[in-house]
Amino acid sequence: MDFSNFGTKDMGIDIGSSKLRVTFEDKGIVLEEPTLIVVNKKSGQIIATGMKAQNIMEQNPITLKAVRPVENGQIIDIDYMEIFMRDMIKKVYKEFNTGRPRIFANVPTDINEVQQKALENALYQMGAKEIFLIDAPIAAAVGCDLRADKPIGNMIIDIGAGKTEAAVVSMGEVVVSDTTNVAGNAIDEDIIQYLKDNLSLSINKETAEELKIQLGGAESLIEEKVLEVTGRNVETGLPYTILVSSKDIEKATKKAMQEITNTILSVISNTPPELVSDIIQNGIYITGGGAHTNTIDNFIAQKTGVKTYIAENPEHCIARGIDRIINNSGDYSRMMEARKRRKLL
Ligand SMILES: Nc1ncnc2c1ncn2[C@@H]1O[C@H](COP(=O)(O)OP(=O)(O)OP(=O)(O)O)[C@@H](O)[C@H]1O
Ligand SMILES: [Mg+2]
Repeated sequence: MDFSNFGTKDMGIDIGSSKLRVTFEDKGIVLEEPTLIVVNKKSGQIIATGMKAQNIMEQNPITLKAVRPVENGQIIDIDYMEIFMRDMIKKVYKEFNTGRPRIFANVPTDINEVQQKALENALYQMGAKEIFLIDAPIAAAVGCDLRADKPIGNMIIDIGAGKTEAAVVSMGEVVVSDTTNVAGNAIDEDIIQYLKDNLSLSINKETAEELKIQLGGAESLIEEKVLEVTGRNVETGLPYTILVSSKDIEKATKKAMQEITNTILSVISNTPPELVSDIIQNGIYITGGGAHTNTIDNFIAQKTGVKTYIAENPEHCIARGIDRIINNSGDYSRMMEARKRRKLL
């Protein structure tokens, strides 16, 4: 595969269930916006995209609805996705002289043909001259400063909003991987359900996410914390303010933590023994916004018996990895070849 680009510029794209991240040339991440569109419920007219859409939805407008074109790491609505991508890329084009760039994008390991086609269409809509797809765990490993191109095993966990992906990478290839849809969004939903069932409190997704961030943890917090929360009483339908504690959030999120653990354990148990010994020596790296979960490193270390590290700026790890792959394309060309081979299987 020839990576020389004769003046064409290179752009990196990480399309997440909650955020889109774009990197460009030597500037690192140049755009980070919610993967969100606001649509008029009646007319279907698009009102806003990205950050603007999020700001509008925070006002709880009753005539509008929020649409997320990416769920569980996969594009679920190609039409909305193309509109969203065109809008976002216009912003980048406005600021930088990108020309028609080559676009490098990461893909989850469990992507199917139809989903991959949808992604490629969305990237061409953005004006891509050429597209290169990178397995997400490879990008994450490179973004964590791991030598994913070497003949050693590296273990990477990405806990995002829509999915958790655990993988072992070696020699530029994903050796074993497993995914679950249990990640940030599912945890928020579990918190909503738990508070409804146990405390008769109905809250929205934003409040649930805030509770997860403020009170949540993979293990019991040493010091119990409480927050005053206002929602609606599910029995009376009236506004309701109560104290919610870190113990409540722990109970609400226990099952999700177990599911994430099981995904990691299934990857370890399917990894060839010689790579397992590398992982025991080098540790497990956690990336994605979920890596900010209080005590998650201790929790995973305890469940697996392997020391566990949180990546620096974990939510940016994949975008950072794509950026490094672009800027050192010679070193990583074998990885791109590997991806190409996988596609042909
Ligand atoms: N302090 C925190 N504790 C727990 N979760 C957090 C914290 N900070 C952010 N998160 C969660 O991280 C998730 C966002 O992570 P990230 O930006 O990696 O997702 P994404 O790349 O958009 O989604 P995906 O890769 O799953 O498609 C959200 O669910 C958010 O609530
Ligand atoms: Mg992600």
